Amino acid sequence: MEKRWWQEAVVYQIYCKSFCDTNGDGIGDLRGVRSKLPMLKELGINCIWFNPIYRSPQVDNGYDISDYQDIDPTYGTLDEFRELLAEAHTMGIRVIMDLVLNHTSNQHRWFQESRKSKDNPYRNYYIWRAPKEDGKEPNNWGNYFYEGKGSAWQFDELTGEYYLHNYSWQMPDVNWEYEPLRQEMYRMMRWWLDMGVDGFRLDAINRLKKPEGLPDSKKPPAPPVGIYGYVVDRAICTNVPGIHELLRNINKNVWSKYDCMTVGECGNLSSDGALDYISQGNKEIDMLFHFEIGKNPDIITVREYKQTQQRWIDLMKHNAWITQFLTNHDSPRQVSRFGNDREYRVPSAKLLATLTHTMPGTPFVYQGEEIGMTNVYFDTIEDYNERYTVGKYWTMIEAGEDPETALGKLRDMSRDNARTPYQWSDDENAGFSTGKPWIRVNPRYREINYRADRDSKDSIFDYYKRLIALRLSCPAIIDGDFRFLLMDHPQIVMYLRSCARQTLLVAVNFSDDEVPVQFPEELDGFVWERLLTNLDGSTPVMDRRDVWMPWEAEIYQMIG
Ligand code: GLC
Ligand code: CA
Repeated sequence: MEKRWWQEAVVYQIYCKSFCDTNGDGIGDLRGVRSKLPMLKELGINCIWFNPIYRSPQVDNGYDISDYQDIDPTYGTLDEFRELLAEAHTMGIRVIMDLVLNHTSNQHRWFQESRKSKDNPYRNYYIWRAPKEDGKEPNNWGNYFYEGKGSAWQFDELTGEYYLHNYSWQMPDVNWEYEPLRQEMYRMMRWWLDMGVDGFRLDAINRLKKPEGLPDSKKPPAPPVGIYGYVVDRAICTNVPGIHELLRNINKNVWSKYDCMTVGECGNLSSDGALDYISQGNKEIDMLFHFEIGKNPDIITVREYKQTQQRWIDLMKHNAWITQFLTNHDSPRQVSRFGNDREYRVPSAKLLATLTHTMPGTPFVYQGEEIGMTNVYFDTIEDYNERYTVGKYWTMIEAGEDPETALGKLRDMSRDNARTPYQWSDDENAGFSTGKPWIRVNPRYREINYRADRDSKDSIFDYYKRLIALRLSCPAIIDGDFRFLLMDHPQIVMYLRSCARQTLLVAVNFSDDEVPVQFPEELDGFVWERLLTNLDGSTPVMDRRDVWMPWEAEIYQMIG
């Protein structure tokens, strides 16, 4: 595969709203980000992904964009963004923007025009349909945020028609069938790229194409919204034939003209359908995020982790590149979900990072994971903010669930786990803001915070630093071969990374237990130097202990 800069990127995802507040309004801002650039530089990342910071009513924290070509005033100004961009570039840090092409805010000028009349020039920018004969919604689709009674259609009295919103009713889906809309989106993307941004994370990108005729979902209506007859079917608008042509057109008109990186969020996509999107020859997108790791939150097994990784890594043989991440702003905290956020918080946080940064593909760090931030457990729904948790909670209550049980079912996976303020110190509000934060701080901030971590001899941040530096200096990690050893082991993840110049062995005990390990015979007869470990007091070379400590992680290099 032809070498591109983003294959050597280590991307740091910034959820600006919760990163660093400099004016005491309780909301993170661009100045806050700018003040932390030296810290990011020290960490060693070389690319930032900004969650949406465009002008927005913040119904979905910025994924509801009302002006694609402006910065939300709570975050700063366009000029401040330009300055930040220039400063980041000077420091060798690229910047990619989160781009929402599937929907806009209902406050966007296009939508304001669109709803005015059936013959408004912007009418077809969105997806309007007449009611059925009985006045009902055009089909049985449910919205993903469980809003209202659950329909994906909102009636607008002004013209007596419904518009489609797969997410919130305040986030109408746009109509990619309509050429003027496409042109407008192309122009907008070029404007950002011309300004100097280095690419895009593409929100819900495999959902731009809707199925012909917008047919009913055949899935049976399931509670909670099933009680109203709607069906939340995330698959029906996903990977619809025609999506690839649509993406190739964007690529041809926009992305191909710049040395930019594109990474698409692709829910409901298995490795089977992925190559069409990311095979470089197809000229669609460069990389994608899939959600197959931990797909079933109740049974996350180490074997599944390995099998899933193997399937995706196999795609790389076909002129394609993949991503590595275990969390983002829509997921629980990785140390809580995959690690042990109590007695083994520190080693398990390091272990997870070890995997992400030494597997094939471009690694993504989500803010706070580098200090081992954990899930939050709020006691009442009032403390939760994000639309999905809140919408689903109230729909469950309507369907007869008791509050305790409803919250119990939602807490572990709530997107707010990742969205509480960055814990900078054990000062008030975790040092995030001098005012009242827009969402409650995780009560564990006194124990878990940046300052405490940096002061600890067991610092997670420090481990990330060494890991990232190691990655960037090891050709075997960036584009070497990959092979799992002990594939069927239920707790150990072990693999070789090798290129002409170097052979590395990564081995971790992905469990709470002390695990006896028999090293595969093929490793015998070589000397293995220890490059990195999350265990204290280890020897400089591999010692073939037969018991591995809980959450132990090691990286070795073959030296002879
Ligand atoms: C993506 C975003 C998520 C947002 C949704 C709607 O899944 O990651 O945060 O709510 O799209 O834009
Ligand atoms: Ca602020």
